[in-house]
Amino acid sequence: MTAKFIKPKFITVEGMDGAGKSTHIPDIIVSLQGRGHEVVSTREPGGTPLGERLRELLLHEPMHAETETLLMFAARREHIANVIVPALARGAYVLSDRFTDATYAYQCGAKGVDASKIRLLEQWVQADLQPDITLLFDVPVEVSMLRLANAREPDKFERENAEFFTRIRQAYLQRAQENPARFRIVDANKPLEYVKQSVEEIISTL
Ligand code: TYD
Repeated sequence: MTAKFIKPKFITVEGMDGAGKSTHIPDIIVSLQGRGHEVVSTREPGGTPLGERLRELLLHEPMHAETETLLMFAARREHIANVIVPALARGAYVLSDRFTDATYAYQCGAKGVDASKIRLLEQWVQADLQPDITLLFDVPVEVSMLRLANAREPDKFERENAEFFTRIRQAYLQRAQENPARFRIVDANKPLEYVKQSVEEIISTL
């Protein structure tokens, strides 16, 4: 039998706060490992010691939306250099809980930062690195807000209002529409078992 070289995949998981991505990430990891892949599971903002320190500031410190954008990309630069690229280079799959689509959804869609400024930073920081597949957990805003209300102490983003969340959802759906080959939309408003099954079907194609 000839060994088949499988190009490692960079997978990202996105969605509004409360869409349920954290529930499904452990299953995605197990499913990929079950297919024989080494998986590096990471998150943004964060993923490196410096990135995690920036995360603390980003999630709790009020700041200008452009400062927030710049810090997201500063953390991302570190994350790409120290975690994502080395992992892909040694053949591991990378699963990141959020990546640049979140900056388009939150800082651009919800907070009004110019998309052209984000694109500039994206080109600078990522060059030609893009996720291979992005799972977007999509739920109506009321559902995500209800889930958040029953969850732990909210961070800065989770304290925002319905209008803010509506803009995030729209921006994510627009990103998906503009990048149909990369995005897989998961209807996360369905019963948990159904969502798990949909996620498994997507992973089985990778
Ligand atoms: P989140 O991923 O929801 O983590 P947890 O499940 O622990 O709450 O939290 C990260 C927050 O950061 C989320 O509200 C979205 C925000 N964020 C941005 O605003 N821009 C970005 O570029 C990224 C990566 C995250």
